[in-house]
Amino acid sequence: MQTLKVDLGERSYPIFIGQGLLDRGLMQPYIKGQQVLIVTNETIAPLYLDRLVSSLPDSLKVDSVILPDGERYKDLDHVNMVFDALLNKRHNRTTTLIALGGGVVGDMTGFAAACYQRGVDFIQVPTTLLSQVDSSVGGKTGVNHPQGKNMIGAFHQPQCVVIDTDVLNTLPEKELSAGMAEVIKYGLIYDEAFLCYLEDHVDGLMGLQPDLLEQAIFRSCEIKAEVVAQDEKESGIRALLNLGHTFGHAIEADQGYGEWLHGEAVGAGTMMAADLSCRLGWISSGDVTRIKDILEAANLPIYPPTEMSADQFKNLMSVDKKVLDGQLRLVLLKQVGQAVVTSDFPVAKLDETLAAGTSLGQCC
Ligand code: NAD
Ligand code: GLY
Repeated sequence: MQTLKVDLGERSYPIFIGQGLLDRGLMQPYIKGQQVLIVTNETIAPLYLDRLVSSLPDSLKVDSVILPDGERYKDLDHVNMVFDALLNKRHNRTTTLIALGGGVVGDMTGFAAACYQRGVDFIQVPTTLLSQVDSSVGGKTGVNHPQGKNMIGAFHQPQCVVIDTDVLNTLPEKELSAGMAEVIKYGLIYDEAFLCYLEDHVDGLMGLQPDLLEQAIFRSCEIKAEVVAQDEKESGIRALLNLGHTFGHAIEADQGYGEWLHGEAVGAGTMMAADLSCRLGWISSGDVTRIKDILEAANLPIYPPTEMSADQFKNLMSVDKKVLDGQLRLVLLKQVGQAVVTSDFPVAKLDETLAAGTSLGQCC
């Protein structure tokens, strides 16, 4: 097992990463009161809920709530199911919520914890690769609004994060690819050597080799922890973690949440960011090919939906949280391993990228 610390002063917390951690009792020291509510969904509950419950001491009063599965349920109505369970079972301010699931369950549980009685503790037990390397770390919580993804939310840090790599064995392959989009993102924005490691081991990672997974998850969380420690509330450097996300969120919103997986949309969005960076002369066409190759090796889509027009993209991108004073800001690559957040690009170049479709990366 490897342990990492997210360094946020009095809100610091550990991330435990390794095989077979689900029932090792690691979260016990981080449960302060006598009550626990496990929040999970109807897919994950039959797989892992009993194991988690039986790993907790008998002295705790453990309740659970099982949400419907899917991004389309990540809304205020369904967060209410968590509040209903907490109130019906008389949970008080010392309760701890445990999110057992992917990013949807994690974001909703964290948001419920941020709101319930003005804030209670919560623990993340992420079960998808995406949630293990990204959404369970850093304290962003929230739900979608029909007009925009993750538009209602709060920053609320967990007490600890327990990452059991074994749970990835039951994850559908498409979801593994979606998680790889975020892993690849860390190499692209922050650490070219890590990108080389991923290029060398992408097949082993896709084949779920435990030692490779542990290493890739560790380095991804380490980069995220470093960035979050510098900029918890995203007033600067944290926005770099959104490489490909502004384009990706537009794809998700256009197609209807859940049609394209978040990570798949980030994959195509990353290609769009690479294409624009290349058109601006910042990275080479060889770099773009390298990015395309690793995304393809992880079985990710590399082109946006053919039916999406440049105008549709622009409309949807204008509600992005990175829009400041009406100006669209994008995360782009100055070089492989170094990203910037910028609004300093000619709109004509962005238009070219938005209109490129399956020619992305070919004309720079
Ligand atoms: P998800 O939570 O929808 O999980 C994907 C699917 O896999 C679901 O059907 C789920 O039930 C199933 N599943 C989960 N674990 C499983 C397992 N071990 N075995 C079998 N099936 C399993 O999707 P996700 O990709 O984990 O998360 C996406 C969400 O995360 C989006 O809502 C996105 O906005 C959010 N997100 C948040 C942050 C953040 O910083 N808070 C960062 C990135 C993404
Ligand atoms: N996923 C981006 C962030 O946590 O900031």
